[in-house]
Amino acid sequence: MVKAPKTKSKSSPSTPQRPHIAIAIMAAGKGTRLKSKHPKVLHEIGGKPILAHVIATAQKVVPAQDIFVIIGHEADRVREAVARTGVNFVLQAAQRGTGHALMVAREALFGSGNGNNNEYDQVIVLSGDAPLITADTIKKLSAFHTDQRATMTLLTADLDDPYGYGRVIRKSRGAEVQEIVEEESATARQKKIREINSGFYAFDGPALYEHIDRLSTANAHGEYYLTDMAGVFHRARKRVVAIKTSDAGEVLGSNTRAEMMDLDARLRLAKCRELLEQGVTIFYPHTCVIDGDVEVGADTVIEPFVQLLGHTKIGADCRIRSYSVIGNSVLGDRVTVKPGTIMEDSRVGAGAVLGPYTHMRPGTEVGEGAHLGNFVETKKIKLGRGSKANHLTYLGDTEIGEGVNIGAGTITCNYDGANKHRTIIEDGVFVGSDSTLVAPVKIGRGAYIAAASCITEDVPADALALARSRQSVKEGWARLKREAHKEKRR
Ligand code: UD1
Ligand code: CA
Repeated sequence: MVKAPKTKSKSSPSTPQRPHIAIAIMAAGKGTRLKSKHPKVLHEIGGKPILAHVIATAQKVVPAQDIFVIIGHEADRVREAVARTGVNFVLQAAQRGTGHALMVAREALFGSGNGNNNEYDQVIVLSGDAPLITADTIKKLSAFHTDQRATMTLLTADLDDPYGYGRVIRKSRGAEVQEIVEEESATARQKKIREINSGFYAFDGPALYEHIDRLSTANAHGEYYLTDMAGVFHRARKRVVAIKTSDAGEVLGSNTRAEMMDLDARLRLAKCRELLEQGVTIFYPHTCVIDGDVEVGADTVIEPFVQLLGHTKIGADCRIRSYSVIGNSVLGDRVTVKPGTIMEDSRVGAGAVLGPYTHMRPGTEVGEGAHLGNFVETKKIKLGRGSKANHLTYLGDTEIGEGVNIGAGTITCNYDGANKHRTIIEDGVFVGSDSTLVAPVKIGRGAYIAAASCITEDVPADALALARSRQSVKEGWARLKREAHKEKRR
């Protein structure tokens, strides 16, 4: 067993210290095989960019300050998409291979020029395009590497279909690895090896940068392959070992759209399983799209083809019927969402009934037991407890009290072409069907609006407002018209 040389390490075999660990995430590639104008790592699976999954997992292992994301293709877009996490970025302006990515990171990981004076004992390398890896597995890889006193440790997996992955060539027995052979240069015999290189590694930090310049571009793609470090270390008589995951699903990459959809399906199904476990019923779970951060209470029933997105939180005993799309919204207990309801950035009180086909735009607040029915569109409104707007209505910038009835076809005219204005409807108001309320306007408590009124002025409490032309009836008019018509045809 050869111990890797450690330049400034204070650890001694008798008092093993926790190694100082950096995580490098390779995310500079273009993703040619996707045929996309967007960088590969920004494609979404499970409702967020592939890279965001990898960073979130890395953050469970080391703090953001020790995470270095290597970006290159569309670097600004990638940086912007994940900047909030507080990780470091390393620019790999020309992408000359995975080995080159780590060469470019030398200054960030071991430089002193940029003020951070980092000296990492261990560098864990993750692939920015393999998002299912778990923190547990990364920790196992790291601990195994330390235990084995290895210079390089690869995470491997046995795949039924290893096509496209680097194959692991082990020494005759034990954990030691001789080299990694990429698909395009593998012999027919090597292609039969089912143990693949996952693209996740742990390196002895100083040793990596002592030897990385030995990589060459003498391969099918003319790139520096990080995988070749296995052979480089092996020839330098450094210890290269491999640890195999028990769950091969964790290491799958996303080089093609088909692979990406496979990963997405795995994540979605895992989320559904987690919710089923927590007491939620989901019919035909493979038809539902539920993002990772969504919470759902027990005994809630989710029908087929429902989408629950972003930070949506749904209470207990709700029923979410088919084709509803709910994003970043909070629903209380016992809420019924009928088919085809669309909801964004909204809040719904317990026992409310929504849909079918209600469109709740951002800022909709529905009180306890209130109803919004078919073809009702809302935006920035407060609907008080027990109030109802059941049919064909637009309510925008409106505050509605409790026990209000909004008749079919009511429209709040909130926009004058330049500015938005508010409508206030106090408790117990009855708005007759087909009324237009021209904002700014206020309807006082308990007032009645006669059907088909066009309300342009405030209505005091308990009043009846009629704002429509009076009906006139011309007796016998229709009969006379018919008779005149007959006369003409004779
Ligand atoms: C790589 C491995 C392969 C392994 C597989 C696992 C190499 C040469 N091969 O192949 O053995 O089985 O991962 O998924 O490493 N990247 C950069 N800069 C570059 C090139 C790539 O940052 O110059 C990034 C990519 O954005 C990607 C990751 O590195 O996130 C892996 O690159 P990719 O081209 O997908 O490698 P694979 O062909 O999958
Ligand atoms: Ca890949």
